Amino acid sequence: MDLGALSGLTVVAIDGPAGSGKSTIGRALASRLGLEYLDTGAMYRAVAFAAIRARVDPDDAERLRAIAEAMDLQLGPDGVVVDGVDATLEIRGPVVTQAVTAVAADPGVRAELRTRQRLWALERGGGVVEGRDIGSVVFPDAVLKVYLTASVEERARRRAAELDELDYDQVAQDLVRRDRSDSTRAASPLVTPDGAVEYDTTGVEVDRIVEDLAAMVEGRS
Ligand code: CDP
Repeated sequence: MDLGALSGLTVVAIDGPAGSGKSTIGRALASRLGLEYLDTGAMYRAVAFAAIRARVDPDDAERLRAIAEAMDLQLGPDGVVVDGVDATLEIRGPVVTQAVTAVAADPGVRAELRTRQRLWALERGGGVVEGRDIGSVVFPDAVLKVYLTASVEERARRRAAELDELDYDQVAQDLVRRDRSDSTRAASPLVTPDGAVEYDTTGVEVDRIVEDLAAMVEGRS
C-alpha cells in the first residue's frame, strides 16, 4: 500500500516496551479524542495463537505467513476471536507470550499485519494505534507519535498485577527477554521513531498522561 493513501488520516501512534502503559493510555486517549483504538500486539499474539493451534513451528516462515494471511481475526472491546475461537484469555497466557517473539520477528507476518493495520485506519479515518513499530514503520506520518517508557521495576509490577497467576520475578525476566528481542530483531525493531515525543510514565497518573497527550494532538490538528 502506498503511504500517500494514508495522508489526511488522524492517527496517533503509540510505541514502547512491554508494560510501559500503551494499552491503558491508548484506550483512554482514544475515548478522550473520540477515535477508535487498535492494539497491534493482540494481532501478533493472535497469529501466535493460530500457529500453535495449527502446530506450525514459529520458525517455519512459509507456513507462518500462510497462517497470518488466512487468519480471520475479530478484535473488539470484549475480546479477541481467532478463526471463530475465543482467544481472549489464551493470547495473554505464558505459552502465547513465549511464542509471539519468533512470530513478530517474521517479515512475512509483519507485512501481512502492517497491511491490515493500515486498512483498519483507512476504514475509520484514523485511530489510536499502539505497538512496537507504529510511528517508525506503519504510520510514519501520524499526527502524533509517542514513545512511552517506564522503569523496568514499574513495568514488571504493572504486568504482574494484571496477570495474577504469575510472580514478579518471572514477569520481570520475561519483560527483559522480550525487550531485548524486540529491540534487536532485523524486521521493524522497537526504536524511538523520528519525531516522537518521549514520555516516561513512571509514577505519573493515567489521567495526567492522557490529558498531556490529548493537548498535544489538539495542538497539532
Ligand atoms: O502488552 P505487551 O507490551 O506485553 O505486549 P504486546 O503489545 O501484546 O505485544 C506482544 C509482542 O508482539 C511484543 O513483544 C512484540 O514482539 C510484538 N509486537 C510487535 O512486534 N509489533 C507490534 N506493533 C506490536 C507487538
